[in-house]
Amino acid sequence: MTVFLIGGTGFIGRAVTQRLADAGHTATVFHRGRTTPDLPDSVPIHHGDRGDPEALRDALDTAAPDVVLDVIPYTEAQAKALTSVCAGRTDRLVLLSSGDVYRQYDGLRGASDTPPDPVPLAEDAPLRTSRYPYRGADADFAYAHDYDKILVEEQGRAGTVPATLLRLPKVFGPGDSEHHVGSALARLREADGELVLSEREAQWRWSRGYVTNVADAIAAAVLDPGAGGRTYNVGEPDALPQATWLRRVAEAAGIDTAIRTGPRAEQPDTPSFNWAYRMALDTRRIRTELGFAEPISHPQALVQTVSWETE
Ligand SMILES: NC(=O)c1ccc[n+]([C@@H]2O[C@H](COP(=O)([O-])OP(=O)(O)OC[C@H]3O[C@@H](n4cnc5c(N)ncnc54)[C@H](OP(=O)(O)O)[C@@H]3O)[C@@H](O)[C@H]2O)c1
Repeated sequence: MTVFLIGGTGFIGRAVTQRLADAGHTATVFHRGRTTPDLPDSVPIHHGDRGDPEALRDALDTAAPDVVLDVIPYTEAQAKALTSVCAGRTDRLVLLSSGDVYRQYDGLRGASDTPPDPVPLAEDAPLRTSRYPYRGADADFAYAHDYDKILVEEQGRAGTVPATLLRLPKVFGPGDSEHHVGSALARLREADGELVLSEREAQWRWSRGYVTNVADAIAAAVLDPGAGGRTYNVGEPDALPQATWLRRVAEAAGIDTAIRTGPRAEQPDTPSFNWAYRMALDTRRIRTELGFAEPISHPQALVQTVSWETE
């Protein structure tokens, strides 16, 4: 199969490109050339900016892909331009979305006081009614003003090419520029032997995924024609409570920090997070429909990430 990846050289995209190339598929990468891809020589590379419709169209015409995977659709305008250029140029489209489409996310960030939805959140759980979750936020992110995966998904569904929408969890692993595990490590080390969590934070859950496993789930959706027109949550089978996650990170790093709940319960939690809103995703659909299962175990994933963070 020939797959055209928009942005296949970054943290998640590179892992998908590698996974597809390893399985013998032609994974063609389209990116600006600012990152240096550590990819097999067999991977065709097209340099161009996705904001340049001619560059994108020419690269698509050269690659003639069966499937286009947009790793980096952030705005409505980007998704609209993509569905338009893809019409007649590919059979299917796969768009990376996020768990932040769910209404629960607004509660978590303090933007809504609608009572929490029951978890885990299946694909038909209520979506945010607000738009542009990062507009006005102090975010170091080029698309913060217009970012909204709900609008990206809507454009994907409205296009003439069948689109698969993948709602990703918090992704961790080597290459994670947000250092999700690194920040947990810092917190554990700074705690000086005992980390005290409020009861609410200790019980809070957030679906996570190791980058190699997430790449495998994305590849499953790319390669299975039955995924056309479907929406899937991606993430570990069980979203760990925060206290368990921190304990597992400590174990993987050999940090002797006890984690307990206690007096912090009277203190306000991190002001921007309301821990009553749990971001646990129900990932059964991708497992039953596409046969996805994690190739890397949770302990292995953490050891590999801790090793990278430590280096
Ligand atoms: N990380 C998480 O926890 C998480 C959670 C939920 C969803 N997601 C989703 O996962 C995706 C991020 O994937 P990633 O981690 O691989 O991203 P990344 O590390 O930021 O990589 C960005 C990729 O896109 C290319 N690129 C950037 N701007 C471009 C442009 N204008 N035209 C063409 N190529 C461009 C970059 O190469 P050049 O710089 O060389 O162009 C690179 O290949 C996003 O859709 C995000 O919403 C991530």
